[in-house]
Amino acid sequence: MKAVLSTLIVLTFGILVDAHFQIAFPGPRGPFVEPAEVGFCDGFTNVTTNRTDFPLSGGIVTLNSEHPSWTAAFFISTVANPNNFNNFSQVNSFFQLTGEGGFCLPLDLASSNATGLHDGQNVTIQMIFNGGDGNLFQCSDVTLRSTANISSVPCTNATNSTSSSTGSGSGSGSGSGSGALSSAASFDMKLLGLLGVVSLVPLVL
Ligand SMILES: *[C@@H]1O[C@H](CO)[C@@H](O)[C@H](O)[C@H]1NC(C)=O
Ligand SMILES: *[C@@H]1O[C@H](CO)[C@@H](O)[C@H](O)[C@H]1NC(C)=O
Ligand SMILES: *[C@@H]1O[C@H](CO)[C@@H](O)[C@H](O)[C@H]1NC(C)=O
Ligand SMILES: *[C@@H]1O[C@H](CO)[C@@H](O)[C@H](O)[C@H]1NC(C)=O
Ligand SMILES: *[C@@H]1O[C@H](CO)[C@@H](O)[C@H](O)[C@H]1NC(C)=O
Ligand SMILES: *[C@@H]1O[C@H](CO)[C@@H](O)[C@H](O)[C@H]1NC(C)=O
Ligand SMILES: *[C@@H]1O[C@H](CO)[C@@H](O)[C@H](O)[C@H]1NC(C)=O
Ligand SMILES: *[C@@H]1O[C@H](CO)[C@@H](O)[C@H](O)[C@H]1NC(C)=O
Repeated sequence: MKAVLSTLIVLTFGILVDAHFQIAFPGPRGPFVEPAEVGFCDGFTNVTTNRTDFPLSGGIVTLNSEHPSWTAAFFISTVANPNNFNNFSQVNSFFQLTGEGGFCLPLDLASSNATGLHDGQNVTIQMIFNGGDGNLFQCSDVTLRSTANISSVPCTNATNSTSSSTGSGSGSGSGSGSGALSSAASFDMKLLGLLGVVSLVPLVL
């Protein structure tokens, strides 16, 4: 099943990407490398040791979107040095948002499809972002801490766009504001169909 994602990513490599995104929290593996973002972990294939403490419940991911309409999802790996897509499993459904600028998205791992996570565990979060012209990837190495205090992390959205869940299930979506698949190209329809299948893959520890 996991091979589906790899195949999909290979199939979409050729698509031109104009807009990008940058994760701010939890800090990514290294400085943003624009041309590398079309590939695994923005080109950072080695795990880092300067991990960020990340809460098991009530976590957030903050980022800058350079695209006015985008689809995204979170993947997670419990592998010590995850260096390829097969080491990651999807933790929530794809969701679609509108707006460029800063966003602060909930990532509540405790209530996600990721199972067996525990306090003190090292995991890597990989975000997939698609503004309609191809997949982009960034990774953050974190340590799960029930005591992680993220209240000082700036958390605002550039727009009041309502998240629409796509693919299967409800994921982190909470409404129907931005029209789900209506603005997606046919490429995205295929993408989301395939990824709906991938999202059924349970996390393998
Ligand atoms: C970890 O260190 C690398 C290399 O110094 C740096 O680029 C990266 O931003 C750091 N990551 C975090 C989360 O601090
Ligand atoms: C990853 O680490 C290996 C071994 O230390 C090194 O040869 C390689 O250049 C590193 N790759 C990247 C992308 O930093
Ligand atoms: C988690 O990662 C840190 C930084 O690389 C390392 O020092 C620590 O031993 C790891 N913890 C576990 C439980 O693997
Ligand atoms: C990580 O991915 C590689 C390549 O697919 C695979 O050989 C390895 O078994 C994976 N590691 C774990 C712990 O799943
Ligand atoms: C979290 O950190 C903030 C300051 O950044 C502090 O005001 C607050 O009391 C802390 N909360 C807990 C539960 O420690
Ligand atoms: C979002 O909505 C709130 C409440 O209506 C409003 O105060 C705020 O200015 C809006 N933010 C943006 C960026 O539109
Ligand atoms: C930003 O928007 C997302 C999607 O609608 C929402 O889940 C999140 O709570 C918002 N963040 C803030 C700080 O309002
Ligand atoms: C878990 O996965 C199922 C199947 O893909 C999906 O319907 C559900 O929304 C997911 N739950 C969360 C919290 O992401």
